[in-house]
Amino acid sequence: MAQTFVMVKPDGVRRGLVGEVIRRLEQKGLRLKAMKLIQVTPELAGKHYEEHRDKPFYGELISFITSGPSVPMVWEGREAVQVARTLMGTTDPVKAQPGTIRGDFALAITENIVHGSDSEESAEREISIYFSPEELV
Ligand code: PPS
Repeated sequence: MAQTFVMVKPDGVRRGLVGEVIRRLEQKGLRLKAMKLIQVTPELAGKHYEEHRDKPFYGELISFITSGPSVPMVWEGREAVQVARTLMGTTDPVKAQPGTIRGDFALAITENIVHGSDSEESAEREISIYFSPEELV
């Protein structure tokens, strides 16, 4: 069964949207495998976003993701990576469809509520950054 990594970012936690994100993923039929509330450190953020190191927005991305607590999660289900990304909507909330998480709750590209893996390979990598195998139930 496919697994994906989803994380409610600091703006989502600050705005009280953790339950809303979980509700949407659960209602779709994905199953929660692991979850915790953590303060992402600059070291963790650097590993997570290493592929974006040369992008002009990298500094902003790291300072945002370390700005407050986040809620990393592992979800499982058929085509979990694609299903979670469809529920989240496109990266830029301006373009995200109404009915998606970003389409309904976000406007800024940095503060876009939620992160989701973009492939099964990324999911495996990101899960291993945030969780040890024993934490998956
Ligand atoms: S890319 O260039 O297509 O690989 O990047 P993309 O997948 O669209 O975005 C990667 C993550 O960077 C965030 N992002 C930004 N942050 C700040 N400023 C700007 N301009 C910006 N553009 C993209 C975006 O929210 C993505 O975060 P995650 O956590 O992966 O969703």
